[in-house]
Amino acid sequence: MRIPDYPAGETGQWAAVDRYFGDLLCPADAALEQALTENARAGLPPHDVSAPQGKLLALYIRMMRASRVLEIGTLGGYSTIWMARALPSNGQLVTIEANPRHAEVARANIARAGLSDRVDLREGPALEILPALQAPFDLVFIDADKPNNPQYLAQALRLTRPGSVIIGDNVVRGGAVVDPDSGDANVQGVRQCLQMIADHPGLDATAIQTAGEKGWDGFALAVVR
Ligand code: DHB
Ligand code: MG
Repeated sequence: MRIPDYPAGETGQWAAVDRYFGDLLCPADAALEQALTENARAGLPPHDVSAPQGKLLALYIRMMRASRVLEIGTLGGYSTIWMARALPSNGQLVTIEANPRHAEVARANIARAGLSDRVDLREGPALEILPALQAPFDLVFIDADKPNNPQYLAQALRLTRPGSVIIGDNVVRGGAVVDPDSGDANVQGVRQCLQMIADHPGLDATAIQTAGEKGWDGFALAVVR
């Protein structure tokens, strides 16, 4: 391991740093705050992206002037709100959620954020919905059930164009991703997806580890050639 020339820090500070960065650079407003509150109240798993991650997705959308975004895995719509807000007024975000209860919570959160016109929430299994969608999307955010990541990537490839960006969440999973013999279907889905990315001549990619309020995880980012 490379020895950093700054204090290595404690995991206990990861969340505090996220809060510091979040409050400073990505402050929540009522709609974002209420989305997180409603998601927790409805018992959704606490898998929402952090505020700095939501802002990063929004900045990518602005940096590449994306106008059509696809999200696979809405959960309660927190990341959806961050991304939809970054779109131009004629932009569109299609987001897919398999769990009807999650979709219901997300629909309300998106409506409260005033984004229902820009967000097309499709309820149902992504593997049934994706084949009916039409290319091209400028950015695809894959953040649903991890065992299906390889199939989601295949659809993302079909639905993108040269220059599009594909981002996959949760590729580190506390370091579990390095175990090729893992019995965790999530890890295997992530690993197969990363291998597909590595083997695909039409993708140029990296993966970045993150430490924060969600622990030790990370995301993969690929640009379509
Ligand atoms: C899990 C899924 C997510 O999308 C996430 O951001 C964190 C964890 C999970 O399934 O464990
Ligand atoms: Mg995730």
